[in-house]
Amino acid sequence: MAGPFLTTPPRRRRVLMFTLFFLLVWAVLPIESFNPPRRLLLGITRTVVEKSSDDILQFVDPLIGTVNGGHVFPGATLPYGMAKPVADTNNWGEAAAGFVSDDSLITGFSQFHDSGTGGNPSMGNFPLFAHPGCLEDDFTKCHYATAERAISRVNGSATARPGYFAIGLSNSVYAEMTSTAHTSLFRFNFPSAAEVTYTPDSKDMPQSVPSSPLILLDLIDLSNSRSGGDIEVNTSTGRMKGGGSFRPSFGQGLYKAYFCADFHGAEIRRTGTFSHTGATDSVQALGDLYGGVRIPQGSAGTWVQFSQAPKNRILARVGVSFISASRACQNAEREIGDFDFSRVVAASEVAWQGKLAVIKADHTGLNTDLLKTFWSGLYRTMILPQDYTGENPLWQSDEPYYDSFYCIWDSFRAQHPLLTIIDPKTQTEMVRALINIYKHEGKLPDCRMSFSKGYTQGGSNADVVLADALIKNLTMGIDWSLGYEAVVSDAEEEPSDWSVSGRGGIDSWHKLGYIPVDDNDRKGTGPLSRSISRTVEYAYDDFVIALMARELGHKVDEAKYLKRSHNWRNLWNPEYDDHYRDRATGTIQGSTFRGFLQPRFANGTFSEQTARLCSPVYEQHVCYFDTRHSTYEGSPWLYSFYVPQDMESLVSLMGGAEPFVERLDYFHSSGIMYMGNEPNFLATFQFHYAGRPGRSAYWVHQYIPSLFNSTIGGIPGNDDCAMGAFSAFAFMGFFPVAGQDVYLLTPPLFREVSIKTPDGKGSATLRNANFDPGYTGIYIQSAKLNGEPYTRNWITHDFFVKGGVLEFVLGPKESSWGTQKQDLPPSLSTGTI
Ligand SMILES: *[C@@H]1O[C@H](CO)[C@@H](O)[C@H](O)[C@H]1NC(C)=O
Ligand SMILES: *[C@@H]1O[C@H](CO)[C@@H](O)[C@H](O)[C@H]1NC(C)=O
Ligand SMILES: *[C@@H]1O[C@H](CO)[C@@H](O)[C@H](O)[C@H]1NC(C)=O
Ligand SMILES: *[C@@H]1O[C@H](CO)[C@@H](O)[C@H](O)[C@H]1NC(C)=O
Ligand SMILES: *[C@@H]1O[C@H](CO)[C@@H](O)[C@H](O)[C@H]1NC(C)=O
Repeated sequence: MAGPFLTTPPRRRRVLMFTLFFLLVWAVLPIESFNPPRRLLLGITRTVVEKSSDDILQFVDPLIGTVNGGHVFPGATLPYGMAKPVADTNNWGEAAAGFVSDDSLITGFSQFHDSGTGGNPSMGNFPLFAHPGCLEDDFTKCHYATAERAISRVNGSATARPGYFAIGLSNSVYAEMTSTAHTSLFRFNFPSAAEVTYTPDSKDMPQSVPSSPLILLDLIDLSNSRSGGDIEVNTSTGRMKGGGSFRPSFGQGLYKAYFCADFHGAEIRRTGTFSHTGATDSVQALGDLYGGVRIPQGSAGTWVQFSQAPKNRILARVGVSFISASRACQNAEREIGDFDFSRVVAASEVAWQGKLAVIKADHTGLNTDLLKTFWSGLYRTMILPQDYTGENPLWQSDEPYYDSFYCIWDSFRAQHPLLTIIDPKTQTEMVRALINIYKHEGKLPDCRMSFSKGYTQGGSNADVVLADALIKNLTMGIDWSLGYEAVVSDAEEEPSDWSVSGRGGIDSWHKLGYIPVDDNDRKGTGPLSRSISRTVEYAYDDFVIALMARELGHKVDEAKYLKRSHNWRNLWNPEYDDHYRDRATGTIQGSTFRGFLQPRFANGTFSEQTARLCSPVYEQHVCYFDTRHSTYEGSPWLYSFYVPQDMESLVSLMGGAEPFVERLDYFHSSGIMYMGNEPNFLATFQFHYAGRPGRSAYWVHQYIPSLFNSTIGGIPGNDDCAMGAFSAFAFMGFFPVAGQDVYLLTPPLFREVSIKTPDGKGSATLRNANFDPGYTGIYIQSAKLNGEPYTRNWITHDFFVKGGVLEFVLGPKESSWGTQKQDLPPSLSTGTI
């Protein structure tokens, strides 16, 4: 989870699909409007579909995760695209990405979004809204401001595919949208009748309006954060342009955004502006820039009223930019000169098919729920970060610029390692962008959105993203000496505000070797809490810096950072037990497990705190950004497993392999684990380090599909573009230990899956020799790599670079495969790293 706030409790999934009202609207609308995606596109995409054996996009359902806290953006976007149109809703608790699959009202169709984030609703700037006409043909009787215009949707009408989103409004407008990199294209469909009859949400009786569509554009964003702004409409062409300043959703400062909208398909009758609820046709501009009146906060914008459209549809093209409104116009004209909606949808589909074609999976025996879970999860890993190259107003550079690293604390564990395998070119650009941000802002981000510094959640986790890339040999154009300088800066130089970059408590870290609960930090300011989680993360960050130092030949540094990577041990209290007083019953509860990481004062005394705090079983929601406790979004129980650099030591401290496995099993079965948060991912696979890879496979099958599935609520927490990476890895049969050249092996959930090598010539294939789609045999009995027996329970990255075949024989019981000391993944204390 990226944000400081709670996710709202799970909602009941709606089952009511076709109401009487839907049928009524459907009867007055042209049939085609209601099922355009497949029918319209068939002709255009036929060539593509024929080339690939099956259309993989049919298994991508962007609506997964649009309730139940997933916060997924289900609208139209290119891979990493900047323009992201979708319908926004007024369920503010759930609408972090605009749309929510519930009964909340639709407030408009805005241009920018993030996906899967926690925190406040993100972006959602410049919403359009369409009325079929105004009462008594009087434009002042139409609704303008967000609260007044918000309208119910036609139940069950939301349709989402890669590159396409559509929804029916209860005012009889059917809105479709698609996008290019910096431009949204909307197709608003209206009834063909001269009068449109519909029932407003606030009334019982239907009302009729003369068909004369009015389309407005509001300068507001989803969290109503705008200050200032300018907007104008051209009375003869209807072109609208403008921009404003907005606040980032989980960060500091302000960002500026701009748009440029053009319309196509109907005669303009009149134009004007609105401010809050009042509209006029005598003022055509608001804000200083265009010589208009100053704009207050909230809803304010421009509108165009059209004559009835001859083909009953009006296209609206909205270019966006972070540089200027005229740049937004250029983006729109360059990318969608022809207003050809079907062409733009088809191009987006081709782009997505290209991204997903890197993976070939044998679908034999899998039901569509599983297939949708896999492919949709993969799709979501390529929504953020967003490619803003060429749109950076902050500095001039030829380097790529990516934004919406939201947040790296979430994404370093699975998403970036996945992109390294399936889209190394883009991952390389992201690493270059991170290093360029360091160059110009002085620190790597831990979180970044909308050109703003986002809040740091744990350590300086961009260090792991860089180390992972270096170790996996991403080189193209990356300045690794600057990259190394960046991670060393994290480790050595405390910034004055470490709530948004770098680390705090550097002096304690260097002197005491842990972050004390009573840290007396004089170098900078930041949240003086999270002593356990910062200690384990700083230790791991220092460990990966040591690996980078080794790779780059900095011997002295390597030894220094390896030494610091043992610091997690300084919080280990072998006496710390697992008992706590249950709030409800007043009784003492807990387990007999003993020895955890415990918060500690600077004088060396341990501080009291239950090891279950911040887990689902004990005050889960007290560890967000403003926490005063010692762990961030997870319990000491969870963080006590976070020693990826030296699991061998941890296993010993926990009493050896058997007690360790017992404890990790307990963690997964007692309710302490919360899969909705990324730090829990690795703990699913850590049985490998105790010689029990079969237990990892067992827990994979406990979580898929029970927590990761194809329902609209089928993600256990904020997606963060990371949840889909977890399920994608689990389906393919390996999971990365981010920052190391290590992937832990479990049997793929497919009979076979192949991933193209980066040169596009070969492929890395994982195969189950005796696959059983009922998953009665989920335990590896033996394995062969390129025909040779293979007993290690892990593999390295060169498998994906060179290609090859890894074949498993499965059985219903755990075997001795991968259980011996020499089969285990590397650990510092065994000298295998
Ligand atoms: C949509 O369904 C909900 C119940 O799930 C109902 O309350 C609402 O009135 C319906 N809306 C329309 C426009 O039919
Ligand atoms: C409106 O657009 C037309 C065509 O581009 C242009 O000639 C005219 O100057 C514009 N009007 C205003 C007020 O900017
Ligand atoms: C790393 O990549 C470069 C080219 O980018 C290649 O020449 C080199 O052999 C690779 N090294 C390894 C260890 O794979
Ligand atoms: C260490 O500091 C804490 C907090 O100030 C205090 O409660 C504790 O008694 C101290 N321990 C010793 C041994 O001085
Ligand atoms: C699907 O996943 C969600 C979220 O993790 C979970 O609450 C739900 O029970 C799952 N549904 C099924 C049918 O497994």
